[in-house]
Amino acid sequence: MPVIRKYQEPYDRKFIREICCDTAFLGDPVENFFEGREVVADLLTLYYTDYEPESVFVAELTGQIVGYLTGCKNIKRQKRIFITRILPVIAVRFILSDSILKKKNVLFLYHCILSFLKKEFFTTDVLLEHPATLHINIDRRYRNMGIGKKLVSEYLYYLKNEKVKGVCLATVSVDAVRFFKKMGFTVLQKKKVSCFAYLGYKRLYRFILGRKLTDEKADVIE
Ligand SMILES: CC(C)(COP(=O)(O)OP(=O)(O)OC[C@H]1O[C@@H](n2cnc3c(N)ncnc32)[C@H](O)[C@@H]1OP(=O)(O)O)[C@@H](O)C(=O)NCCC(=O)NCCS
Repeated sequence: MPVIRKYQEPYDRKFIREICCDTAFLGDPVENFFEGREVVADLLTLYYTDYEPESVFVAELTGQIVGYLTGCKNIKRQKRIFITRILPVIAVRFILSDSILKKKNVLFLYHCILSFLKKEFFTTDVLLEHPATLHINIDRRYRNMGIGKKLVSEYLYYLKNEKVKGVCLATVSVDAVRFFKKMGFTVLQKKKVSCFAYLGYKRLYRFILGRKLTDEKADVIE
């Protein structure tokens, strides 16, 4: 079985970025909807690896990273840093690169902007009770082996020790919803999203799941 341990710079960084891009689209590679791995890896992992590495956990099996959990104890702080320090740099780099001209990327950005204007990414306020968040990705070859469960258990234990009240996350994957329900999360919000309809995903929902950590059993997953 893999060892679950804290993130170590610089060794783990490239593995996390690689797994992130290999699993970014409903568990499948990012190339299904976007060309430009560096941009996607920066958008999805940079805050965690560079600004809150103490909340990142990896699963290591015989010297190889096979899964990770990127956590954050305070979503408000994350949003502030992301908008003021990370996004401007990524946007400038993206505009100056040739990726911006690729048809696949133009289509994706166009549909994302439409979804944003329709308020499909808007989340009702759950942050008071659930200030922390997480993303988790397991290399496809190592799923259903109990690695995700171990990573989530370790993270909940860590959050509880840090006196964090609760944790929430967003996903469009019904498989992930089933997994998180097993981890003691409940669905707090469900909203239709249309940004992937042009790829054939016409009935996709964005779920917000949450788990409070103030109860006795918060560090135990049955
Ligand atoms: C979702 C994911 C993290 C689960 O990790 P995993 O290592 O495959 O899951 P585990 O083997 O630890 O499973 C733990 C429990 O959840 C259940 N489970 C896992 N995937 C499930 C699914 N798709 N449907 C129903 N139950 C599922 C397992 O049966 C197991 O139940 P048990 O404790 O009763 O035996 C992993 O499949 C993944 O990385 N998917 C792609 C990326 C993703 O969707 N990330 C989540 C969005 S942030």
